[in-house]
Amino acid sequence: MFSFENDYSEGAHPEIMKEMLVTNEEQTTGYGLDPYCEQAVTCIKEKLGAKDADVHMLVGGTQTNLIAIASFLRPYEGVIAADTAHIAVHETGAIEATGHKVITVPTKDGKLTKELIQMVIESHHGEHMVAPKMVYVSNTTEVGTHYTKKELVELYTYCKENHLYFYIDGARLASALAVEGNTMLLCDYKDCCDAFYIGGTKNGALFGEALVIFNEELKPGIRHMIKQRGGLLAKGRLLGIQFKVLFQDDLYLKIGEHQNDMAKQLRIGLERLGYPFLYDSITNQLFPIFPNELIRELQEKFVISISEKVNEEYSCVRLVTSWATKEEAVESFLLAVSDYKEKTN
Ligand SMILES: Cc1ncc(COP(=O)(O)O)c(C=O)c1O
Repeated sequence: MFSFENDYSEGAHPEIMKEMLVTNEEQTTGYGLDPYCEQAVTCIKEKLGAKDADVHMLVGGTQTNLIAIASFLRPYEGVIAADTAHIAVHETGAIEATGHKVITVPTKDGKLTKELIQMVIESHHGEHMVAPKMVYVSNTTEVGTHYTKKELVELYTYCKENHLYFYIDGARLASALAVEGNTMLLCDYKDCCDAFYIGGTKNGALFGEALVIFNEELKPGIRHMIKQRGGLLAKGRLLGIQFKVLFQDDLYLKIGEHQNDMAKQLRIGLERLGYPFLYDSITNQLFPIFPNELIRELQEKFVISISEKVNEEYSCVRLVTSWATKEEAVESFLLAVSDYKEKTN
């Protein structure tokens, strides 16, 4: 059964596996101090146009978020996030377990605005409340939407004016970069945030995320924090090799384009068949609304999961495409939906 459940259902892009094998028997220093990590960091800094940025490679997204947030904030400070945000909903309280409250805000499309942040600031005052000090967004968001360059610049400007750090979770950054008409290039991130991470796990790597810190204030002590929180990988070269392959040429962007292309074919096909979407997404996560009967039929042939119930008869399904999604899988999914439509019309 083909799975549209996630963009981490497969192993790694063949280019990465090839390099892993070629370098397998080499001996290197550990903990990210090997030549591959050095090359990967150099490639990333070049693509960012930020030679002074600090780049640290970690294994997973939750780990990166909690280490970054715990390192950047004082003990009594909190982080503002959309109520759908990954750190708020899907990290088992990992951020709160570091002592930092996640202050959530309801949004219509998973995206924060300066007005929403302002509401939080205005409702927090004095030492009897947590002090909001950081704004967290992810690009793409948890519901498949994405931020434009204008929106990110606006959020960052607002954060600076209000002495807040702005941190972007880029678990699905490849998809955000490859969005049709996107003008927010990788090199623009240095002008739009204090820190962000470049997701590898959901963008063709076997695992790995690259935390990038631009703001000088946030750089000290981060390697100590990574080690203390169990994030310093002894065989760090495995991260270096992967990010070097993803960034030495344009593989990262190509993966994003492929993911988005496959999702676009799915989206157009489902729109033609008359199915609506809960969120307006042009990234690699789609949220169509299907009759429950159709979902049950599809689940006999595909691995898909329900994201939320819409009413008694309809539910919203999350479909995700990856570097490995093939056109044939998209076509056979659309065929199954259209067969159902014909049968029930
Ligand atoms: C936006 C975002 N951030 C962070 C994570 C966490 O990644 P991990 O499961 O590797 O901890 C995910 C995983 O789905 C995610 O979608």
